[in-house]
Amino acid sequence: MSSAITKAVIPAAGLGTRFLPATKAMPKEMLPVVDKPAIQYVVEEAVDAGITDVLMITGRNKNALENHFDRVTELEVALQKKGDLERLRRVNKSTDLADLHYVRQGDPRGLGHAVLRAKLHVGNNSFAVLLGDDIIDSRDVLLRRMVEVATQRDTSVIALLEVDPSLSSMYGIATVERTDEDDVVRVTGLVEKPSPADAPSNLAVIGRYVLRPEVFTVLERTPPGKGDEIQLTDALQEMAASDEYGGVYGIVFRGRRYDTGDRLDYIKAIVQLAADRDDLGPDVRSWLKGFVAGLD
Ligand code: UTP
Repeated sequence: MSSAITKAVIPAAGLGTRFLPATKAMPKEMLPVVDKPAIQYVVEEAVDAGITDVLMITGRNKNALENHFDRVTELEVALQKKGDLERLRRVNKSTDLADLHYVRQGDPRGLGHAVLRAKLHVGNNSFAVLLGDDIIDSRDVLLRRMVEVATQRDTSVIALLEVDPSLSSMYGIATVERTDEDDVVRVTGLVEKPSPADAPSNLAVIGRYVLRPEVFTVLERTPPGKGDEIQLTDALQEMAASDEYGGVYGIVFRGRRYDTGDRLDYIKAIVQLAADRDDLGPDVRSWLKGFVAGLD
């Protein structure tokens, strides 16, 4: 059995073109979802799954990310003076979450290229990758289960979600075989963003991975693929096709997931998460009912 999985990589160097102009000077991972940036939900999820060390792959707008996870002494002093200890606790939460590190990607040459930038930091251990625009509801378990399966089977594990076949061109799509565990499948093939006619299934790859370190060797020789970018999916396809790297397994996730990289899904995420909150929920739900009743 491999050693404990304690490191995570969060690629946050994409251009975020779907959210321009909001992402002109700020990474999309910093967009607020209710009152926390998306990235904080993701780091909290990693920590809940046993991660203690997080490496963010940053792009040209990295300052906002670094500042969010750093102390702001003036703010802390001001809140302390006012006796606003609840807000002080919330402000400090992001600072104390995990041991955070940053490395620049340079040119954004794709998700695979971003992950490859983590090679030196990660070393020869399995590690998690979390995409900052996928939020998994904290009431549902995904990454912890992936870490468990990766450790037990000494393999790489991806997260799969059943999607409407018409959406296949937005995702990597997997071909799978069943295993003796209900939520675990063996991945036999992967294709990046196929048209619905070419999609081998309706199981889409979502933004959580637990990868064996051999992925770096494979990524180093992976040529640019779809969109002329180095695709993580292409490297995983090679790992799935060979027994040399322990294969690739998938967890079929049946919980709540919010895709905040897309404008409509971002709005849905805010409404759903706010409506479920103890503090804001009652007011949001009551306003929402009135608002919906007034629609045509
Ligand atoms: P996306 O393709 O969703 O991100 O990449 P994007 O390019 O920022 O978004 P759009 O389509 O232009 O709006 C998935 C993840 O990989 C990261 C992104 O930050 C995102 O979390 N990424 C992508 C990198 O870190 N580097 C890259 O070169 C590409």
